[in-house]
Amino acid sequence: MSPQMKIVRAPKSMQLLAQRWREQGQKIVLVPTMGALHNGHLALIRRGRQQGDKLVVSIFVNPTQFGPREDFSRYPRTFEADKQRCLAGGADALFCPEPDDMYPPDFDTWVNVEVLTSILEGAARTAHFRGVCTVVLKLLNTVTPDVAVFGQKDYQQCVVIKRMVDDLNLPVKVVIGPTVREPDGLALSSRNVYLTVEQRRTAGVLYQALSLAKEQITRGKTNPARLAGQMERIIRRNSDFEIEYIEFADPATLKRQTIVHPPAVILLAARLGATRFIDNVIVR
Ligand code: PAJ
Repeated sequence: MSPQMKIVRAPKSMQLLAQRWREQGQKIVLVPTMGALHNGHLALIRRGRQQGDKLVVSIFVNPTQFGPREDFSRYPRTFEADKQRCLAGGADALFCPEPDDMYPPDFDTWVNVEVLTSILEGAARTAHFRGVCTVVLKLLNTVTPDVAVFGQKDYQQCVVIKRMVDDLNLPVKVVIGPTVREPDGLALSSRNVYLTVEQRRTAGVLYQALSLAKEQITRGKTNPARLAGQMERIIRRNSDFEIEYIEFADPATLKRQTIVHPPAVILLAARLGATRFIDNVIVR
């Protein structure tokens, strides 16, 4: 444990703390989150701990990445438990601004990665990635990390952020940590708390479907419609999920593969009741 973990709310104070660290020659690592921390976040925090000298975890439920009908107001907030987890993960600072600190009333500047955010998650959630990119750039400018750690769970988010970092010449290295899953394969998510016991019982089927498609691709199957059809059958037979999309894409560019071949990423989004899930696996 790092007994002196600083809790910083004001962006200006965070900037000054980071500046002091940089002057001491310390390498800074940032793990951005929206809190309600689970073992997936904790794995990223541990990963981050190994990447530099000073580790900052940010907790900010970013209003601008939620759509008008999404769950911003009821998004789980568990600050005391989060604080303990950051301490246990060895964080040196917890940066936890309030919406007004990040978005004062006259806020008027947005970051838009254009083509990459028009597909997949961006097609269904139109302003989502604009909110993500804007807040991530603000976090990077505030914490000034040498390394920022993200999770593969949000695959498109990783690709979009890497694009922004390259396009805007941001002096930060992006590190991606693997998806942490429950024993039945369900990817850990802060939103899993919304599930009823019955919904939770069937939610592992998404990963089963992804794993089956991965195996088929490894064995040389190339037809995306057939592969998606098999995945849909497994999901429908075993759950009430409504599938939003299943796509096979190039892992670096997210361009759809019409003939599926490794390296590929299989991406899916599905809804169970009011809860929306995304997941993915990479076929190397
Ligand atoms: P949040 O959903 O809190 O996720 C924070 C980080 O944890 C993201 O990089 C996400 O990909 C990663 N993560 C979530 N579940 C994971 C799992 N099961 N295994 C491994 N990593 C996992 O993603 C966001 O917040 C926001 O969009 C943010 C980047 C903080 C910008 O607001």
